[in-house]
Amino acid sequence: MKDNNLNYQPTLMGKTARTIIPVLQKFLPRNIFKFVYDALYNSYKNLLRWSYFFRYIFYLLSGSKKQRLKVKLTLKLLPYTMGGRKALENAFDVTALVESNNIEGALVECGVAEGGTAAMLSLANKALNGKKRVKWFFDSYEGLPEPTKDDYEMGKTGHFIRPLPKGACLGTIEQVRKLMFNKLELPESEVNLVKGWFQDTVPITKSKIGQIAILRLDGDWYESTKIPLENLYNQISGGGYVIIDDYLTCFGSRKAVDEFINNHKIKTTLNLDGRGGVWFEKPL
Ligand SMILES: C[S@@+](CC[C@H](N)C(=O)[O-])C[C@H]1O[C@@H](n2cnc3c(N)ncnc32)[C@H](O)[C@@H]1O
Repeated sequence: MKDNNLNYQPTLMGKTARTIIPVLQKFLPRNIFKFVYDALYNSYKNLLRWSYFFRYIFYLLSGSKKQRLKVKLTLKLLPYTMGGRKALENAFDVTALVESNNIEGALVECGVAEGGTAAMLSLANKALNGKKRVKWFFDSYEGLPEPTKDDYEMGKTGHFIRPLPKGACLGTIEQVRKLMFNKLELPESEVNLVKGWFQDTVPITKSKIGQIAILRLDGDWYESTKIPLENLYNQISGGGYVIIDDYLTCFGSRKAVDEFINNHKIKTTLNLDGRGGVWFEKPL
C-alpha cells in the first residue's frame, strides 16, 4: 500500500500558510501567536464560507436537486467542521451512495470535534429520505491525545500548518449536543454521543452498534485510526464505506490504514476526497 501513488498536494493557500505561520510562531511570544493564529484561522473560515456562498447560488440556479441539497447542507455546516467543504461534500456523497445502494447499517464517526461532518452524515440521511439509521459519534470531547511513536516520520506527525498538541481540535459534548439536538433538531433517540477515549469506549460499545453502513474515521493519529478499524470493520455491511479523513495528512493514520488493508488482504480502491482524505468500499 505504501507506493499507492496517493500523495499530499497542498493548495496555494496551504502552501502560503505553511510558509508564514512557522515564522510567526518563531518570532511572536506564545500567547500573542495564539491570538494571531486564532484570528487568522477564523478569518480564513469566514472567507471560505463566503466563497462557498457563490457556489451555493450557482447550484441553486443551475444544479440538480441533489447538488442543491449538498451545497445547502455544506453551507449550513461549514462553521462546525475543521475539515472544510470537501470533507462535508464527501460525507454527503458517501451517504447518498449508501442510500441509493440500499446498504444496511448505522452511521458511525470516530473523531467528532464540534460535530460538522457527523451532522452531515445525519442530515444527508434525513434529507435524502434514506433508511432509518442509528448514529454513533465517538470522541473524547477533550481534544486529541498525544501522538505515539507510530505517528512520526522524520520527527514530524504529518503535513500540518501548526503542531497538534494534546487537547488540540477540541469540541465539547455540550457544543455537539447543542448542534445536533437544538439547532438541527435530530431525534435524541437516534443519535448516540459516546464520550471517552476510543481505546476504552469502542470495544465495549461495538456490540450495541450492530451493522454499519459508513465508518468515518477522523481521529488523526495511528492508534485513533487503528482501534476503530480493528473493532468495527467486521460490522460494516458489504458495499458499505470507510472514510479516512486524514490519510494523506497524518502519517500515523495512513500507516494504520495501510497495515489494516494489507494484513486483512482487503481488495479495494482508495478514492481521494480532493483534499487529504480517502474513502473506500468494503468488498461484498
Ligand atoms: C480533527 S478532529 C475531528 C474533526 C471533525 N470530524 C469535524 O468535522 O470537524 C479529531 C477529533 O478526534 C478526537 N480523537 C482523536 N483521537 C481520539 C481517541 N483516541 N479517543 C477519543 N477521541 C479522539 C479528538 O478529540 C478530536 O475531536
